[in-house]
Amino acid sequence: MPDLLAAVRTVSDFPSPGVAFKDLTPILADPALFEALLDRLEAPWGGAGVTHVVGVEARGFWFGPALALRLGAGFVPCRKPGKLPAATISASYALEYGEDAVELHADAFGPGDRVLVHDDVIATGGTAAAVCTLVRELGAELVGLSVALEIPSLAGRDVLPSGVRVEAALVV
Ligand code: PRP
Ligand code: MG
Repeated sequence: MPDLLAAVRTVSDFPSPGVAFKDLTPILADPALFEALLDRLEAPWGGAGVTHVVGVEARGFWFGPALALRLGAGFVPCRKPGKLPAATISASYALEYGEDAVELHADAFGPGDRVLVHDDVIATGGTAAAVCTLVRELGAELVGLSVALEIPSLAGRDVLPSGVRVEAALVV
């Protein structure tokens, strides 16, 4: 079993002073590690009847499409404002300074669909909370949140909508 956590590179003071950035690019760059991470991402959701995996721009696009294929599901990109061409719904969330927003195509899925949200990291949880809210707004069943890495000290789970199942492949 490859040591995935050992492959996570911590970069000090990125993107700003005091932040210890968790860099997953060494996992992406190694096919054995990439495969092992996908195994861990897939395992909790195999029997969950997922119809769509929503990946969150940008780093949710790294593993999200491969995870969707493994689950026999479609892939839906959740993008930053102004990037999706057709009609969208939008949710904003707070950053340390200011705010940002995420968008989904309004016709991406709907009632009767079973949607798994995927991102590379859950930190404070603001990004994932906004995406989960959008999924429910479209009337789909939110099956849960899949992340490659969780940073529990930042308590991101606490800001998610109630009842969301969270599965993290790695925890630091
Ligand atoms: C990063 C990361 C998650 C989010 C986690 O994205 O990829 O999406 O922050 O932080 P949170 O739990 O505190 O919301 P970011 O928007 O910084 O950059 P990206 O476009 O490279 O994914
Ligand atoms: Mg991101």
